[in-house]
Amino acid sequence: MNTFGMKVKARCFMEYDSVADLVDIEFSELARPVLHIGGGSNLLFTGDFKGTVLHSKINFIEILDECHSEPSSCHSERSEESFPPVLVSVGAGVVFDDFCDWAAKEGLWGVENLSYIPGEVGASAVQNIGAYGVEVKDVIRTVYCYDTLEEEFVKFDVSECGYGYRDSIFKNPEVKGRYVVTHVVFALSREAQPKLDYGHLKDAVYSHFERKDNSDENALTPALIRKVIIKIRQEKLPEPSVVGSAGSFFKNPVVPMEQFIKIETAAKEEFGSDYKVPHYDLPDGMVKVPAAWMIEQCGWKGRRSGGAAVWDKQPLVLVNFTGDAYPEEIIGLERRIIESVKNKFGVGLHPEVDHI
Ligand code: EPU
Repeated sequence: MNTFGMKVKARCFMEYDSVADLVDIEFSELARPVLHIGGGSNLLFTGDFKGTVLHSKINFIEILDECHSEPSSCHSERSEESFPPVLVSVGAGVVFDDFCDWAAKEGLWGVENLSYIPGEVGASAVQNIGAYGVEVKDVIRTVYCYDTLEEEFVKFDVSECGYGYRDSIFKNPEVKGRYVVTHVVFALSREAQPKLDYGHLKDAVYSHFERKDNSDENALTPALIRKVIIKIRQEKLPEPSVVGSAGSFFKNPVVPMEQFIKIETAAKEEFGSDYKVPHYDLPDGMVKVPAAWMIEQCGWKGRRSGGAAVWDKQPLVLVNFTGDAYPEEIIGLERRIIESVKNKFGVGLHPEVDHI
């Protein structure tokens, strides 16, 4: 139940496959602490877990409201030319990539860039997963939860979820664990909405067409973009069923512009005046610098330490290289990476992965 493959035990493990079963659970009587997991793909168990691990198997995907696929037959308030959103309700226990696969097959746009991210739908709404220029908050309409404290159902409009980079109100320490996501309503679309501005995604997508005359936006489908994204991810990231990991281990740090200029000046001194440090300018004048680049500059790419290692094709990912790494080995590597990035760049890295 944890993709890092840490060989740890929980005192109690419970799975439920319906909302009715969830309500029947006597939360006040469970061994504490209570940890609700999704695919266990963003967790590092640092040892045996003394409480109860809960897991949802609420598995359904249902189109709630579709105003027909032909825009002219839709009596919405929107213009006749625009397609209304297709609202899709998805159970928290659905594997997120199964949802992406379903959407691609239905010809629905919105989650194709999020293909092949490990984890489940409930956790995606907590973590605000993101990749290739899309975050799940961009397509979430409403998050439905069970409030284990008040023992009632509650719903949060996307605007109430406090979404930020890999962040939401559900991660706030004051409410962490209180709300159990039961299902999420997504707003997808039948209208082509390709988002190809991230890195070299556009080139990768267009190079996929065999005939050049096909290379216009009309020929794009969510299924094609999904296929390209899966290929990119498979080339760069470890296959979870083969090498244990929790995806990106660190968040990408955001630094003030002055600090970024210092980092780039030092890099130009080292690699020549044409050298450019990869970065993304944020609207508030801050700069996001890929942690992968900094970790690589510190010489960590592909390095091993006991059973743990830094993935050679994407150093943002720490892996259980031998399959029997101890949590301490991963944590030791994490500490040393943080220390060296701090020493070289003066930037503090923060783990994205939850340490349990
Ligand atoms: N880079 C290097 N060396 C490398 C790899 C990358 O210098 O070996 C630099 C390159 O400049 C590259 C940049 O890092 O352009 C960004 O790399 P990438 O596109 O792989 O994205 P990332 O910032 O490292 C984030 C997410 C990933 C997501 C990718 C793609 C975080 C913490 N990670 O990684 O999410 O797949 O973007 O959108 O934001 C995950 O969360 O588990 C995850 C894999």
